[in-house]
Amino acid sequence: MIEDLPRNTAEPRVARPLEGKVAVVTGASSGIGRAVARRLAVEGARVLAADLRPHPRDGSHEDGGHASTVDLIRAAGGEAAFVETDVSRASDMEAVAATAATELGGLDIMVNNAGIWHGHRTILDETEAEFDSTIATNVKGVWLGCKVAIGHMVRAGSGGSIVNVASIAGMVGLKAEPAYSASKGAVIGLTRQLAIDYADERIRVNAVSPGFVETSLSRSVMGNNPEHDLTPWPRLGTVSDVASAVAFLASDESEWMTGSVLAIDGGYTAR
Ligand SMILES: NC(=O)c1ccc[n+]([C@@H]2O[C@H](COP(=O)([O-])OP(=O)(O)OC[C@H]3O[C@@H](n4cnc5c(N)ncnc54)[C@H](O)[C@@H]3O)[C@@H](O)[C@H]2O)c1
Repeated sequence: MIEDLPRNTAEPRVARPLEGKVAVVTGASSGIGRAVARRLAVEGARVLAADLRPHPRDGSHEDGGHASTVDLIRAAGGEAAFVETDVSRASDMEAVAATAATELGGLDIMVNNAGIWHGHRTILDETEAEFDSTIATNVKGVWLGCKVAIGHMVRAGSGGSIVNVASIAGMVGLKAEPAYSASKGAVIGLTRQLAIDYADERIRVNAVSPGFVETSLSRSVMGNNPEHDLTPWPRLGTVSDVASAVAFLASDESEWMTGSVLAIDGGYTAR
């Protein structure tokens, strides 16, 4: 009997699912972070863009040219502010959370996206300085971002959503990127661990794992790396592919997801 079946009571997707929310996006001036910041703003969030610089980094080939992410969001009718930040410095990240609270009115969504990659090297060629800077930005930066966001969210008592940007390099072995792979594996482990600790506070912690996405970070090797040809879907990723997934994880539509690692990789890790 059809009447006896459980009903799907899910509401249809609303036009601006992040209306009234405040989102922090680190590394928001270029690449994936820029697309995420703009997407969250379109979906209604007030966005605090945190980056070393307000404009896209040199050599980038961004939508919107050299304009700052904040200017692009405002020109489109959204609300945004910028705070100069090095994610690997605790004092900077504490200032980010404080600025979100005082200038934008809260901190509901934290996207820990800032990351660096020194290029392809074997462990024999990689320097200690490269290892240290990769871990400082990609691991300590995400740890600090989670720490300040969770601190705010626990005090506010209204839950929240954290999305960490990992990589397929943290899920499978890729050639010649030892420090980067270690850093992204750490991001995935941290994501799962924090999801357990803060579920009772309704703070969700998820990760996205992009595959090969064309940005200034990856552009130098695009078209030049046989590993890219192993992506089953017949094109490389775009920043919008990743921004859509982050927006979903940031919104209440993913309410029962925490500790998940969502591969946005054209099927790369399905092989
Ligand atoms: N592009 C890819 O193919 C790809 C694939 C998987 C994962 N990722 C991850 O996505 C994230 C974004 O990468 P992208 O390709 O957009 O890079 P990108 O270089 O285009 O942009 C990175 C942004 O982060 C900022 N940044 C760097 N170090 C910072 C620091 N210490 N403090 C604050 N901001 C800092 C830069 O100024 C820049 O604006 C990174 O975590 C990267 O590891 C990228």
